[in-house]
Amino acid sequence: MEIYQTIAAMQAQSFVWKRQGRRIGFVPTMGFLHEGHLSLIDMAAGHADVVVVSIFVNPTQFGPSEDLAAYPRSMEKDLALCRERGVAAVFVPEPSAMYGRDFQTYVQLEKLPSHLCGLSRPVHFRGVATVVSKLFNIVQPDVAVFGEKDYQQLAVIRQLVEDMNFPVAILGGPIVREADGLAMSSRNTYLSPAERASARCLFRALEEAAAMVAGGEREGMRIRNHAEDLISSESGTEVDYISLCDPVTLEEKTVMDGPVLMALAVKFGTTRLIDNRVLLIP
Ligand code: PAJ
Repeated sequence: MEIYQTIAAMQAQSFVWKRQGRRIGFVPTMGFLHEGHLSLIDMAAGHADVVVVSIFVNPTQFGPSEDLAAYPRSMEKDLALCRERGVAAVFVPEPSAMYGRDFQTYVQLEKLPSHLCGLSRPVHFRGVATVVSKLFNIVQPDVAVFGEKDYQQLAVIRQLVEDMNFPVAILGGPIVREADGLAMSSRNTYLSPAERASARCLFRALEEAAAMVAGGEREGMRIRNHAEDLISSESGTEVDYISLCDPVTLEEKTVMDGPVLMALAVKFGTTRLIDNRVLLIP
């Protein structure tokens, strides 16, 4: 497995693979890898000849009061996991290489960021769209895999690729969960034991909402209120949003008249976690 720290070296390797006619699969990450990330690597391997993983804690997608400095890192372990999974190359650039002193070009979507996480994280999706555009130009992937755990991010990337004509196929990987249902996340490591126990309520809220819909409930407000009661009954929780929305446009829905995305963002102490599920009418 090659480890590339410079943009020039990574891009040169990708151009060699392209000349050889090899399909490049790409999984962008911020490291502290877990089974969720690894499932995306396996998915990429199934659709490509070589897999590239990037590990880069992207400063532009963190707001001023967010956890950039504290974001967990485990580079040696991450590299070992990538090697085990047969990754061909890991790209680990320095922030100063990705964002030079004169950096001034950002990629901003007009509509998708004005919902869900974009409301409480105003610069987040601009940072994600910018870094992913840069990574696509550096890695030159034929296919890139993103997790459904970050549903809005996946929607933003699909729109970005369509709008900017990136020649890359985007695949979404299902949410990988802990045994008790909590979606795996690098940020779970911030949770105290008590918060970790409370955090299970996210999955329960989604399960119970799906059961309500399966049982005939069509009123968004009743589904939402039930989830809010369930989450607020855990101590130390603070709801950022509980949203029922259109799975494509992310616009709020009041009535279940087709598939609806239920998306949750809740703080457990200072740690903000997200989860989601598409609710289907049987
Ligand atoms: P990061 O949070 O490291 O996540 C990298 C990828 O792993 C994302 O596509 C995310 O959706 C996916 N992922 C995380 N947890 C998952 C889980 N439990 N199941 C399935 N997939 C999961 O998302 C980012 O980094 C960054 O925003 C990035 C796209 C790298 C741009 O900086």
